[in-house]
Amino acid sequence: MKVLIFDTTDAAVQAVADRLLGEIRMNPGVVLGLATGGTVEPVYERMVNSFESGEISFAGVRTFNLDEYVGLSGDHPMSYHTYMNRHLFSRTDFAAYNVNIPRGDVPDPTAEAGWYEAEISRHGGVDCQLLGIGENGHIGFNEPTSSLSSVTRIKTLAPETVSANSRFFDRVEDVPTTSITAGIATILRSRKVALLATGEKKSHAVAKMIEGPLSAICPASALQLHPLTEIYLDVAAASELTLHDYYQAVHPNGRTDVP
Ligand code: F6R
Repeated sequence: MKVLIFDTTDAAVQAVADRLLGEIRMNPGVVLGLATGGTVEPVYERMVNSFESGEISFAGVRTFNLDEYVGLSGDHPMSYHTYMNRHLFSRTDFAAYNVNIPRGDVPDPTAEAGWYEAEISRHGGVDCQLLGIGENGHIGFNEPTSSLSSVTRIKTLAPETVSANSRFFDRVEDVPTTSITAGIATILRSRKVALLATGEKKSHAVAKMIEGPLSAICPASALQLHPLTEIYLDVAAASELTLHDYYQAVHPNGRTDVP
């Protein structure tokens, strides 16, 4: 695990955006795994900026989003389909046929989950997976005690996730309580992982992910098993790390170009 701590939130966000843009420049047909949520919004904003300034094209990039709420149609204002269109897809040249997000409003969500897992494999797997982290340590919607060998399936949201995500809905009762989510094993099969966490609210989960025991109670700790994971943090999100000084010595201010 590369632990990269940046002086400012902006610098952490920019570094993640640069990482994804670098993957695309290296391979214009790259398969990206994408996440939703407040943390990654500014990453998408920077990707849009790069597109608008003519630096990059996303026309050949294939994407697989991690998750979707069960019961919400693609055009529901709070669906992750709408989120992705609003923040990234409708503002760039991603091709609709290259974009994949689980469909939450299908009659058989379990069959959809199985199909989605197979689709990821059929396209050769994810090259680089972008992740955020929940305050309870979830990645995707893999809530605490999710099996570390889980694949795409239906997951019931933890009460704290429903409460955290209620900020995007009019009322907490409107937040769906189940989701289709890529599993922990699905995520671990990605060739590279880039996780972004910002703000003090994430500091506890970040410490458990990086330094805690490998345990289903903190699903993100499964990333300790992944050989090419980079964790991008601002100072606040890194504030509970015991080996903070060590990470800073290895990668001062998130730099990866120092020996
Ligand atoms: C959603 C997802 C989630 C979020 C997490 C953090 O696609 O992957 O795991 O990354 O809930 O959400 P924010 O960034 O809103 O705190």
